[in-house]
Amino acid sequence: MLHSLLSVLPTDYPCKENIHFFEAIDSTNTQAKTLGMQGAPHGTVLLAKRQTAGRGRLGRTFHSPDGQGIYLSMLLRPGCHATQLMHLTCAAGSAVCDAIESVTGLRPGIKWTNDLVFGKKKLGGILTELSLDNAGNVLFAVVGIGINCTQKSEDFPDDIRDIATSLAEITKKNIDIPLLTATILQSLLAMSDQLLSHREDILAQYRKDCVTLGKEISIVTPSSLRHGIAADIDQDGALVVDFSDGHRETVNSGEVSIRGMYGYLS
Ligand code: BTN
Repeated sequence: MLHSLLSVLPTDYPCKENIHFFEAIDSTNTQAKTLGMQGAPHGTVLLAKRQTAGRGRLGRTFHSPDGQGIYLSMLLRPGCHATQLMHLTCAAGSAVCDAIESVTGLRPGIKWTNDLVFGKKKLGGILTELSLDNAGNVLFAVVGIGINCTQKSEDFPDDIRDIATSLAEITKKNIDIPLLTATILQSLLAMSDQLLSHREDILAQYRKDCVTLGKEISIVTPSSLRHGIAADIDQDGALVVDFSDGHRETVNSGEVSIRGMYGYLS
């Protein structure tokens, strides 16, 4: 896999020597954070054929079967304060959509904030994690990408079979995993170059990709269940919601369900 990837990366790709490949790993994000603490440079990539403890947002598991998906993490050192990086997950999401579109001809949507979707099903996800100093400066960020590539419906575990899909299932084509991986890496590096200077453009693209906007949603936190309409994405990538009681609020956490997606109906 590493050899195939290196052979399709352009010769001027800047960080080839910092790409680490694993046949199996617990989580590329977990190990990227360990390398980050040890001083690994900007652009370091961890890539795995399978993960034994792949993680998603809200403490969920990301099912990462052998050779059927892309599981990678890129370490970034943007040199800024955490408050300037709140839109990182959105930026990574649209960057991955660019890569998938360029390789497969299909552009996924994004269910706020970090789920890659097609139709009503989940295709993959983004997990970003920050390491900060005491003043809130970003020591490093880890951007984790998981994409279901070759699974058929029967390959998914029972609990996610009805809500998960893969690129092969959607496109009915073979997926060139090394080529898509190489394209994602280039897209993520390009995104990291523009992250601070092109925030407006990044968020404009994210608003186009985000399938949540304009939809009826429910927001679940440990203490509440509320309903509203997703009205906008703000400058930090947070979701602006018009609640059914008439007030508008910006939401940055909790589980957001869209009516009609992932089996959510009421
Ligand atoms: C989500 O579904 O909430 C996000 C899923 C992110 C999964 C990727 S796979 C590579 C990286 N390593 C992890 O443990 N998680 C991310």
